[in-house]
Amino acid sequence: MKFLALAAILGSAFIVSCTPKTPAVTGTQTINAEHLAQGKNIFENSCKKCHDLPNPTDHSATAWVGIMNSMAPKAKLNEGQHQMVYDYIVSVK
Ligand code: HEC
Repeated sequence: MKFLALAAILGSAFIVSCTPKTPAVTGTQTINAEHLAQGKNIFENSCKKCHDLPNPTDHSATAWVGIMNSMAPKAKLNEGQHQMVYDYIVSVK
């Protein structure tokens, strides 16, 4: 029993540490300044590897959904990073 309890604790710690801090692409989470700052950081570091850094204001929020759906896998972003980058991009006016 002791071992099982320990395994359960370790197991849940592992799940927590591997879960992105922001929920997946659902659109219901609160977007705070830290979330956007992280999105900006990821955007600036991951999106200029293959081409110049795109200009967020060049595309509509709707167009960015499709662009991010094709670019996030290229930039190897996880769901949380994908969402942060998207939210940052559409926050730029
Ligand atoms: C592995 C290389 C690679 C990475 C990393 C990458 N892109 Fe791209 N991107 C491309 C290629 C290739 C094209 C042009 C062909 C295409 O549209 O698929 C492109 C095109 C684009 C376009 C133009 C699309 C259009 O319809 O005009 C935008 C905007 C863009 N990328 C944004 C991003 C963003 C934002 C990121 C970071 C999340 C990113 N890209 C990361 C390879 C990459």
